[in-house]
Amino acid sequence: MFHRAFTAFSHSRQVVNHFVRMNRTSATSRGILADKVALVTASTEGIGFAIARRLAQDGAHVVVSSRKQANVDRAVAELQKENLSVSGLVCHALERHGGIDILVSNAAVNPYFGTMLDVTEEVWDKILDINVKAAAMLVQLVVPHMEKRGGGSIILVSSIAAYSPFTSLGPYNVSKTALLGLMRNYVQELTPRNIRINCLAPGLIRTKFSAALRMDKATLEKVMEHMRILRVGEPSDCSGIVSFLCSPDAEYITGETMVVAGGSPSRL
Ligand SMILES: NC(=O)c1ccc[n+]([C@@H]2O[C@H](COP(=O)([O-])OP(=O)(O)OC[C@H]3O[C@@H](n4cnc5c(N)ncnc54)[C@H](OP(=O)(O)O)[C@@H]3O)[C@@H](O)[C@H]2O)c1
Repeated sequence: MFHRAFTAFSHSRQVVNHFVRMNRTSATSRGILADKVALVTASTEGIGFAIARRLAQDGAHVVVSSRKQANVDRAVAELQKENLSVSGLVCHALERHGGIDILVSNAAVNPYFGTMLDVTEEVWDKILDINVKAAAMLVQLVVPHMEKRGGGSIILVSSIAAYSPFTSLGPYNVSKTALLGLMRNYVQELTPRNIRINCLAPGLIRTKFSAALRMDKATLEKVMEHMRILRVGEPSDCSGIVSFLCSPDAEYITGETMVVAGGSPSRL
């Protein structure tokens, strides 16, 4: 199980180790994240890709990461065409970049659609391993490297489902609520190390991941019923807030969850 959490995150340990050796390529960058090195997991498309793009636009050197080399290559090429400082790795990142300042833990799976009473142990294991345990382990891995650089910023990508469960996605919803707990439990230990940790809770965002929800008319109507801004979100709706949270402007913000969900109710 421990192993699965790791492989799910594209071999997190190697990701972390990979950063350590590389000299930063963003030494001359400008913007609120100038000279920062950021790792964004699951960032070859969707929300992760939009966040990677925005962090790079704001001056960070960004390491794009996912499971498949071809996807990583495509995403890196697209961002480099925009003159952004990015590199990509299927699994390894820390050694190359001389350290890490920002982690956006964004990877998640949802292999199940159905009632809570029918969820198998295997489904629970997979969802909790990848969505929760891998995030916890990745935080553990990056913290010593952030400490060496005097601090850092961590964002865990949760979901509006943490507060208002999506119908038929029980275990996924639970995993996203667990991330809020994970963050709160890390805050105490990370604050003295000058590392801030916050959560992002997107609402319904137009990506492949949400396609099934958006295609099902009844589900879509139900989700939209709670929105105040009556449109499906775009990945770019999630990116500016992450850049802000990682910037010095947010240096007094930790242990918070930023909800980007068109005004959907979002408090427990
Ligand atoms: N879309 C929404 O409505 C919505 C709402 C709330 C929260 N979220 C959360 O936002 C995050 C991103 O979702 P998204 O909608 O942007 O997804 P997406 O568009 O489907 O993007 C998936 C990305 O994740 C990578 N990936 C998939 N499984 C992975 C794994 N096990 N390990 C590492 N990388 C993996 C994919 O690349 P490879 O295939 O190459 O690995 C791809 O880069 C997730 O945590 C999700 O729960 C999404």
